[in-house]
Amino acid sequence: AELADRVPLIWLHLAECTGCSESLVRADTPNLDSLIFDHISLEYHETLMAAAGWQAEENLEHALKTYKGNYLLAVEGAVPTANNGAFLTVGCKGHTGLEIVKEAAEGAAAIISVGTCASFGGVQAAAPNPTGAKGIYEVVDKAVVNLGGCPPSEKNIVGTLMYFIMFGRLPALDMYNRPKWAYGARVHDNCERRGRFDSGEFVEQFGDEGAKQGYCLYKVGCKGPYTYNNCPTERFNHHVSWPVLAGHGCMGCSEPNFWDDMADFEKP
Ligand code: SF4
Ligand code: SF4
Ligand code: F3S
Repeated sequence: AELADRVPLIWLHLAECTGCSESLVRADTPNLDSLIFDHISLEYHETLMAAAGWQAEENLEHALKTYKGNYLLAVEGAVPTANNGAFLTVGCKGHTGLEIVKEAAEGAAAIISVGTCASFGGVQAAAPNPTGAKGIYEVVDKAVVNLGGCPPSEKNIVGTLMYFIMFGRLPALDMYNRPKWAYGARVHDNCERRGRFDSGEFVEQFGDEGAKQGYCLYKVGCKGPYTYNNCPTERFNHHVSWPVLAGHGCMGCSEPNFWDDMADFEKP
C-alpha cells in the first residue's frame, strides 16, 4: 500500500522489558510484514527501526510534526514520575520518558497502552514503587486504551490496532479501558481445566499425579477466577499455548496491580 494509505504508528518504549514487542512480532493475522507494509507506517520503534542515535531522534521529531493529529501512539512500559521523571531518560538529549510521552500524546489520534506496565504501571509500580511508576492514562489528558497483559497476546495488540485502522474509532471498553472483545470474559470460564475445578480435582503440588492428569491449578495459585483475558481461547504464539495449558496457574497479569494484589502466585 502507498504510504498515504497507511496509518502512521509511533511506538514508544518507557520503563519496560520489551516483552510486549516480542509478542507483537509473533502476529499472524495479519502477520508483522503485512501489518507494516499494508496497514501501518511504523515511524518509530526502538527495537524494530533501522535508525539509531541522532537519526532516530530526528525521525521521532519529524513524525510528531508531520503526522500531528493523525498518528496512532502505542506506548510500551510504565512512566516513572518521581523526581520529575528523572528515573527514565531516553536518547541523546536527555529528555525524560514523562516529557516524551506527554508531547507525543498531544498530537495522537488515539493512544494505546500496550501491556500492563503502560496500562497500570505493572511490576515497576509494585510496592514500594520508588520511581513513582504510573500507567500512561494517569499522565495524559486523553482517553487511553489499556491492553493489560504481561505481555498481552499478539492478537490483542494487533486486533486493537486493526480495529482503529479499519473503523477509525476505538472499540468498546471495560471499566479499566480494556477492549471488551479481548478482556470481556473471565479466564476461569473458558479454561480447559474448568471441568476439573467443578469436579473438585485439584493439583495439590507441582509434579504430583494430578498435575500429570491435567487437574485444576487453583490450589497451586491459579488466579484465573479473578482475571479477565482471552488467553484460553486465543492463546499465544500462533495459537500454540497459554500459561495454564503449559502447567502453571494464571498470575492475573492483565489486572491492575496484579504484582501486589495477586501474589503469592503459587498459593491460592
Ligand atoms: Fe514487559 Fe510485561 Fe511490561 Fe510488557 S507488560 S513491557 S511484557 S513487563
Ligand atoms: Fe480456573 Fe485456573 Fe482451574 Fe483453569 S486452572 S479452572 S482458570 S482455577
Ligand atoms: Fe496473564 Fe493469566 Fe493470561 S497470567 S497471560 S492473564 S493466563
